[in-house]
Amino acid sequence: MDTKIEEIQQNIFRICLRPKGSFISFNHFLIKDEKPTLIHTGHRELFQYVYEEVNKIINAENLSYITFSHFEPDECGSLNEWLEIALNAQVAINKICDWSVKGFIGKPSLVLKDGEILDLGKHKLKMIETPHFPHAWEASVFYDTTSGVLFGSDIGTQQGFKDSLDNRDVVEEIFALQQKLGYMPFGPSMAEGIRRLQDINIPILATMHGTALNQKNCRNLLALLEAENQKACRSIFQDNYPLVQ
Ligand SMILES: [Fe+2]
Ligand SMILES: [Fe+2]
Repeated sequence: MDTKIEEIQQNIFRICLRPKGSFISFNHFLIKDEKPTLIHTGHRELFQYVYEEVNKIINAENLSYITFSHFEPDECGSLNEWLEIALNAQVAINKICDWSVKGFIGKPSLVLKDGEILDLGKHKLKMIETPHFPHAWEASVFYDTTSGVLFGSDIGTQQGFKDSLDNRDVVEEIFALQQKLGYMPFGPSMAEGIRRLQDINIPILATMHGTALNQKNCRNLLALLEAENQKACRSIFQDNYPLVQ
């Protein structure tokens, strides 16, 4: 297991793990504040590793909130393990995500409305619903209005075991991988999610896989996704309604 912990902004820690043989790494973010918060629990198999790293920064039992974008193993696979040791932790997610999660953990979560702020103390995490972007109906992202860090889940996924912030142009690399893996459902439902992020000032986009994107890379990636999405929407329309111009 490759492991790396970095403080990407004051009191925001990135715990990066790459299991042996994995072509991607997994980032878990810890915000150390009055209400310590974990963003992405990680896979169930990785629980012990993430737990040990979190414990180097805070007492993991004192976690207040656990949150993530959508219901997938790398986003929330070890949720039950975390809830067993952090007895007061609340899972903070949106209503649609809660439909899946409550069957998994056996109880309802703290359901956040679109745009609602999770007050951690110094840090304020705003939940922004982005259905189907990067994927899954329940998808949302979290924006820390204090630091400007956007926790963007699978938006900006890259291969490898990278440092926390790479200022090189990584947009083409991201897009090539995305096309190869096909994890984004280009089409009309994605347009609104892209537009919502374009309306926000994002100095740092903290990705779940790979290095964080600086403002320029983030802006360029969103513009490229918007253009590709428009292209996909046009072709969906033409394929289904060929006689309508
Ligand atoms: Fe995902
Ligand atoms: Fe992911």
